[in-house]
Parts: sequence; C-alpha cells; structure tokens
Amino acid sequence: MELGGIQTAPEHFLGDYPTFKWNGFRHLVPADMRGRRVLDIGCNAGFYSVEMKRRGAELVVGIDSDPRYLAQARLAAEIGGLDIEFEQLSVYEVGQLGQKFDFVIFMGVLYHLRHPLLALDLIYEHVAESDLLFQSMLRGKRHVSPVEADYGFEDTAPFDDDGFPRLTFIEHNYAADPTNWWVPNRAGMEAMLRSAGFRIEAATEDEVYLCCRGTRPVMADAPPRIAVISPPSPLP
Ligand SMILES: C[S@@+](CC[C@H](N)C(=O)[O-])C[C@H]1O[C@@H](n2cnc3c(N)ncnc32)[C@H](O)[C@@H]1O
Repeated sequence: MELGGIQTAPEHFLGDYPTFKWNGFRHLVPADMRGRRVLDIGCNAGFYSVEMKRRGAELVVGIDSDPRYLAQARLAAEIGGLDIEFEQLSVYEVGQLGQKFDFVIFMGVLYHLRHPLLALDLIYEHVAESDLLFQSMLRGKRHVSPVEADYGFEDTAPFDDDGFPRLTFIEHNYAADPTNWWVPNRAGMEAMLRSAGFRIEAATEDEVYLCCRGTRPVMADAPPRIAVISPPSPLP
C-alpha cells in the first residue's frame, strides 16, 4: 500500500496488493460511509479500515490476531491522520467487542482458520447487524449446482459433481503457508455463507461477496455464544 507517497512493499509477489484487488470490488462498497460503524476482522496492515474511514465511516474498528500487523495498521492510520481503533483480537473472540456493526469486513481470513464455520457463526451472532463484505480464496470449479433439501443415502452422485459444495482440508501447507487450512469451492463458500445466516446480495467474478444478515436456516445448529475464550486455570 502507499503511505505518505511511499510504496510499502514494492516487491510483493502479488504486486500492488491489496489495491488491485480493491479496484475489482470497490463498486460494491458505498462511496459514502458516513454514519456507519465498521468492523474489519483480520485487518492486517489496515488497508480496508483506512479506506472505510476515508469514505467517512463514523466508527472503524480493526481487529487482527497478529500484533505486528496491528502495529503497521496503527502507523498507516497515524500517517493518514485517521481515527481508527485497532485491537488485538481473534475472530473467535468478537463477542468481547460487546457491540454490533452495520458493516463487517471479513476478507481473506476464512481459509486461515481451523474452524471456519464457527467464525461465521460467531460473526452472525455477535457483531453483524446488516452488511458483510466477505472474501475467501476459492479453488475448484466455478460451477454451482442447485442444492437439494435432502439426498438419499444411496445417492452418491452429488459427491462426484464439481458444483457440489466442497471444503478441502489442507493437512500441511498450501502456497508454503501452514495456516491455509480449508479451501472452499465457489459452491461450498456460498453454501457456508447461507448456512451461517448471510444472504448473498452481490458477488464479483472472483472471490468477493457482499452479504446481508438474514435468517439462519432452521436446520442449522443454534449459533454458539462464545464471548470469551479464557486460558485453562492452572492446576492446584
Ligand atoms: C491474508 S490476510 C488478509 C488481510 C486483509 N483482510 C485483506 O483481505 O487483505 C489474513 C489476516 O488474517 C489475520 N488472521 C488470521 N487468523 C486470524 C484470527 N483467528 N482472528 C483474526 N485475524 C486473523 C492474519 O493475521 C492476517 O492479517
């Protein structure tokens, strides 16, 4: 990203990232964010938090589990003269924020999680009031087959269908990154969002979705109410 006229990572293997990604979906985000409360989960060096504040958001809170990224984000906000709150918090701990946001950003984090559906459930339960801007790495066929309400036990054909929802488990590394745990196909990603209670309102050609908090399907488990994850007490 550019900070005070200086390109921070000119040799990055993804190029001018995340600017080129942002240019592909910025039309999904209201140009005027005045009066809106934004939560940026997995904010990294603060690129999207900064963009939201520049668009006039009333409150922007960025959380990330990695303090080094948060230090970069604080520097970016300081150089831009922007009032943004950054906090070291995992997505599994969003209940600790104790408030809801009308625009939640959850970009590029899901596939880094060992418990991706838990994260979506917690976001739905604790922090998402209306909009969710979402992105995940997707792999596999782009085709999305219609999802039936049920399948017979003997009906194994859906599992051979490339458009059936899938989440692929990576035991070791993907792209030399041991934190890439689960990679969905497009059908799998859309099914997970719906199952967590998010309605897909718009999508880009690649991996970005603008969702709205909807009603959770009745067959899904009740959303968990994990607000605080405490370390185990020491043995006596
Ligand atoms: C690929 S980066 C995405 C950054 C940014 N959101 C974007 O889309 O460009 C993933 C970010 O998620 C953060 N992250 C990973 N696991 C997390 C967790 N459990 N809770 C919060 N942030 C997490 C990482 O530290 C990293 O900053």
